[in-house]
Amino acid sequence: MEETIERELGFQVELVHEGLAKILVPKMDLYLREDKVYEPAWAPVFYNPRMRFNRDIAILFARAYSVYGKSTKEGQTPVIVEPLAGTGVRAVRYAIEAGAQVIVNDIDPRAVKLIELNARINNVNDRLQVFQLDANELLSRLKREGVRPTIVDIDPFGSPAPYLDAAIQSIGRQGVLALTATDTAPLTGTHLKALRRRYDVEPARTAWEKEQAVRILVGYVIRRAASYGYGTRILLAYYADYYVRAYVELLKGAKRADESLNMLGFGGYCPSCGYTGYIDKSTTRCPYCSHELQRVGPIYTGPLCDKRILDRLLKEAYEAEWLAEHKRVIGFLEAYSAECEIERPYYRIDKICSILKRNMPKISQIVDRLREHGHKAVKSIYDPRAVKTTARHPEFLKILSEL
Ligand SMILES: C[S@@+](CC[C@H](N)C(=O)[O-])C[C@H]1O[C@@H](n2cnc3c(N)ncnc32)[C@H](O)[C@@H]1O
Repeated sequence: MEETIERELGFQVELVHEGLAKILVPKMDLYLREDKVYEPAWAPVFYNPRMRFNRDIAILFARAYSVYGKSTKEGQTPVIVEPLAGTGVRAVRYAIEAGAQVIVNDIDPRAVKLIELNARINNVNDRLQVFQLDANELLSRLKREGVRPTIVDIDPFGSPAPYLDAAIQSIGRQGVLALTATDTAPLTGTHLKALRRRYDVEPARTAWEKEQAVRILVGYVIRRAASYGYGTRILLAYYADYYVRAYVELLKGAKRADESLNMLGFGGYCPSCGYTGYIDKSTTRCPYCSHELQRVGPIYTGPLCDKRILDRLLKEAYEAEWLAEHKRVIGFLEAYSAECEIERPYYRIDKICSILKRNMPKISQIVDRLREHGHKAVKSIYDPRAVKTTARHPEFLKILSEL
């Protein structure tokens, strides 16, 4: 059977299991780099096993949102659009594990063949509608035809920016944009010119570069959505491995759009005293030591998750033992649930300690001491050397220096 399939596809395949799906993917051993690590971009159709965690959260989100989201009444089938689908692994999983109706698309004919095969193998042909179009063309067509997606999941190579306008316009009165961005070099400020060009921000590389990446992407979505008359709610946004992922709910309404724009601001980092936080558009100097700030913005300055949806995700996660990375998913959701309550960006303790010319205490010690002083504090999921706290900067420095 596999030989016939391989002849038809023109490349060798293997069967992998992910979540509840069985998926035919290009034979991974044939695309190894010199260091013997599999390079998904070299395969004829893109499959990245390192994105299992990303897909697990996507499945949970679809399950949670169909219950929690106001647009889908309980028990109603969510309609999910995946315009850049590769092997179809995510689409098939949405169909099987979230009971969704999926509109799935890829520009590459080899990918489309594989998607169709994977739909058949998993008996979900009736739940997947497969297209071979440019992603923006698909999204415009869906809008013209009056399809009103519950979720549009944009999972491209690099930046989702080229697909944002069509994706936003494809949403009806209410729906969710799920976005992956793997262009972390611009977003974290390693490539400043690309960051300015792609996301229209004053670029910088702060000491909280992973959170800056998330807040830049989300801020950009808020601005694009507002220009089409949508307000936005950030249901979940995070950085993991080497990508940013965001789930943004769009709600039609000029007033809502205006309110969402009010959540934008600028981020600042002071290389002299370590100040980390939000600043006004016009602030160029550190509010504590007057040194010139590293400034980035406009960025989103609000909470990076909605507590109700996160609780729902956790509830779903405890039950979904079949997930590909079940333990990691639970650990992440539990930790992020506490972290999201603190809206300020994280402190990189190694950088602050180097400014203070002292050894780095244990992160858990810092968190405990901050809590003893009545502040909220957590070890951040963004970086093993990072702490989030509600303590004001001078108080934070004082507590740190006393340890
Ligand atoms: C990162 S992969 C998708 C991975 C997939 N979402 C998953 O979870 O495994 C990006 C896919 O987008 C497709 N693609 C690239 N440009 C496209 C375009 N303009 N329109 C539609 N598909 C496109 C590529 O062929 C590739 O399969």
